Amino acid sequence: MKPYIIEFNQIGSSALGYITVAEKLKNIPFDIKRVYWTYFTPNDVQRGGHAHYELQQVIFAVSGQIWFNTEDVDGNKQKYLLDMPNKGLYMPKMTWRDIKFSHSAVLLCLASELYDEKDYIRDYQQFVKCKKNE
Ligand code: TYD
Repeated sequence: MKPYIIEFNQIGSSALGYITVAEKLKNIPFDIKRVYWTYFTPNDVQRGGHAHYELQQVIFAVSGQIWFNTEDVDGNKQKYLLDMPNKGLYMPKMTWRDIKFSHSAVLLCLASELYDEKDYIRDYQQFVKCKKNE
């Protein structure tokens, strides 16, 4: 399965500002078990470098810009840019990702599972091996 961008509604106006809402099983395709955010990542640092066996995520840039290079289980390589707070990136399980951030970026992640280091594949060769067995 491929990652995809989800466009969320913007409630409000340019005069007053906006609200965007994420709700489990309405515009998020899983039951949200955990929310985390990352910030102050220097723009010369690459993060990610892993996939997950089970975790699904919807990821937002609530401020700034975030660039993703992804690879799915079928070997499809894609690039995505999050540059608006109402744009989310759905990451299915078994998606390899490398991530870069603008200086001001805040990444918000809605996650389908609790944190579990055993759910990570951090070795790319291991990911390639797992892809073949899917
Ligand atoms: P990681 O998911 O590898 O970050 P990124 O994809 O942003 O590069 O997490 C970085 C470190 O933080 C790693 O040592 C695991 C730890 N961590 C937690 O302890 N709890 C969490 O919920 C998350 C997401 C990470």
